[in-house]
Amino acid sequence: MARMKVLLAAGLAVSVFGLAQAQVVPPAPPALPKPPYTDPQEAIVARQASYKAQGQMFGAMKKAIDAKQDPAPFAPDAAWMSQWGQLIPSMFPPGSETGHDTKALPAIWSDKAGFDKDAANFNAAAAKLAQVATTNDKAAFAEQYQAVGETCGACHRAYRARTQ
Ligand code: HEC
Repeated sequence: MARMKVLLAAGLAVSVFGLAQAQVVPPAPPALPKPPYTDPQEAIVARQASYKAQGQMFGAMKKAIDAKQDPAPFAPDAAWMSQWGQLIPSMFPPGSETGHDTKALPAIWSDKAGFDKDAANFNAAAAKLAQVATTNDKAAFAEQYQAVGETCGACHRAYRARTQ
C-alpha cells in the first residue's frame, strides 16, 4: 500500500511537471529604463534591451495564444509593454543616431512627431491588451494581440532598419 502511494505520488509529480513544461511561462518584466540619459549612447543600450525584452514577451504571448492558454498571467507583461511605450519617445535623444549597431533610422529625428505618434498608438494598444488580459477572455486577447502587433509593424516599417 505504501509502495502504491509512492508510485501515485511519482505519477502525479510527473504529470504536474509535464504540465509545467507545456505551459508558456510569461517572461518576468525587467526594470523599466530611466530616461533621460547623460550619455546618449547609454540610451541605445537601454532601448535595445527593452525592445529585446518586449520581443520575448510578445513571442511568449503568441505561443500562449496558439496553445489556447489563459491570458491572465500575461497581464503584467502587457502592462510593462504599455509603460515602456510611454518611455519610447525619450529613448532616442540627440547623439543616439549611431553606435551600438543601432537600427534606428534617421526618420526618427526628422519626423519626430510621426515617431511619437506610432509610440502612442502602440502604448494605447498595449494598455488595452493588459486590460483584456485581466478579463481572461482568450478570443479578445488574441484579437488585441493582433492589434498590438500591427502597431509594432507600423513603427518598424517607418523607423527601424531591416535586420538583414
Ligand atoms: C514607436 C516605434 C516602435 C514600436 C511601437 C515598436 N518598435 Fe521595436 N524597435 C523600434 C526601433 C527604432 C528599434 C531599433 C532600436 C535600436 O537598435 O536602437 C526596434 C527594435 C526592436 C527589436 C530588436 C531589439 C534588439 O536590439 O535586439 C525587437 C525584438 C523589437 N523592436 C520588437 C518589437 C515588438 C515585439 C514591438 C511591439 C510589441 C515593437 N518592437 C514596437 C521601434 C519600435
